[in-house]
Amino acid sequence: MRVPKTVFACTNCGAQSPKWLGRCPDCGAWNTFAEEAATPPLPAGGARPSLGGPGSKARLYADVDMQQAERISTGIGEFDRVLGGGLVPGSLVLLGGEPGIGKSTLLLQAAAEFAQRTGPVLYCSGEESEHQVKGRGERLGVGDAPLYLLAETCTERILDEVQRLKPALLIVDSIQTVYSTKLTSAPGTVGQIREAATQLLFAAKGQNLPTVLVGHVTKDGGLAGPKVLEHVVDTVLYFEGERHHTHRVIRAVKNRFGAVSELGVFEMTGSGLQAVPNPSALFLAERQLGAPGSAVLCCMEGSRPILLEMQALVSSSVYGSARRMTNGVDQQRLALLLAVLEKRAGLNLAGEDVFVNVAGGFTVDERAADLGIVAAVVSSVRNRPVRAGTAVFGEVGLAGEVRATGQALLRVREAAQMGFTRCVVPAGNVTPGDGASGCEVVGVRTVEETLDEVI
Ligand code: TYD
Ligand code: MG
Repeated sequence: MRVPKTVFACTNCGAQSPKWLGRCPDCGAWNTFAEEAATPPLPAGGARPSLGGPGSKARLYADVDMQQAERISTGIGEFDRVLGGGLVPGSLVLLGGEPGIGKSTLLLQAAAEFAQRTGPVLYCSGEESEHQVKGRGERLGVGDAPLYLLAETCTERILDEVQRLKPALLIVDSIQTVYSTKLTSAPGTVGQIREAATQLLFAAKGQNLPTVLVGHVTKDGGLAGPKVLEHVVDTVLYFEGERHHTHRVIRAVKNRFGAVSELGVFEMTGSGLQAVPNPSALFLAERQLGAPGSAVLCCMEGSRPILLEMQALVSSSVYGSARRMTNGVDQQRLALLLAVLEKRAGLNLAGEDVFVNVAGGFTVDERAADLGIVAAVVSSVRNRPVRAGTAVFGEVGLAGEVRATGQALLRVREAAQMGFTRCVVPAGNVTPGDGASGCEVVGVRTVEETLDEVI
């Protein structure tokens, strides 16, 4: 058998070598050599294909027509929302997430819906047999739809099936299990992932075929494989959630066709993933009314306001140095807010352990969460509940000032809708007429003022 010609190239600087090297002699980086197919020299007079075709010329900006990207619904509203309104023809989407989080489940549900509404779907699984996929499909209630299953890990054969079936959507589960016959290395290696992704990219663009790839994540949460994978695809989505909670969140971290801050919320049930149209209700469901150390925060996820319960527990430290631990918020941010509370509001926290947690396993990385953390911590320190019916949001500065944040009106409306009667917000966000939503809006200028208003 003819062994394919390959070379090893440094993923950092591109230097090539006929054999694997531990350290790149050119750039000095360690463990960066990956196998790739050796490119034969171009035939005399031949040229590489170019994006613009032969004889492409520059055009004046004003003469270029606007092309409204057409969207195809996946049939799952929350998935469409994260994609920016649906799949764009010819786009390559990468869906990453931890094992067992529900990537295959979501895509099988989407594939079935898509096949019902739009056209044939080819679902390639390199991880499960057709019978296993069908077994799951039966639980999900996949009906009679032109959905083709292919248990295959060879990219070339997947592309042959694409040629034969001409599907309207291709799903590859997962990019780490497929390989190309052009390389001798094992599936999942940097070279194989890059080669397979590139081949799928050419197929997607060439045939205007929307393609969704599943990606595994590494221990520290990044997508496994080369960074170039994230550059190659048009959209990178992460599927997240706590193993012990039933809710799952899907968010975009890169999207060439839409906003990246959008969020889709699902609940994992016995019959697959169910969209959660009202996430605030889900995240506040188990809140204990009147418990000290609990505050309700209105945060924004993309264009959508969500109410969350921020919990804090302050207890005297038994060890020498006090501990500050967080779940769902940045630990450094908590340290900063505690320093502000000590200096500007006279709270003595030096000898106290402080734990902060966002209930429901949600993660917030918004500055407007500051006031939620402050309210929860103070409520725990004083061992008194936050005033009934109160929700908060706002950013805290080092001088102890409370700074205005964006989308204030949307946040207040969401709080009012969820039955809150008071919102403690930055003074800079109060505009006359806000109270019309049935919720009293209280503006605060400093953390000190905040303490008087929330407790
Ligand atoms: P799966 O989609 O296989 O995860 P991934 O592809 O991300 O590795 O999801 C598997 C988990 O989902 C599994 O632990 C069982 C659970 N599950 C349900 O709770 N209900 C269902 O209807 C299905 C199909 C799976
Ligand atoms: Mg899977």
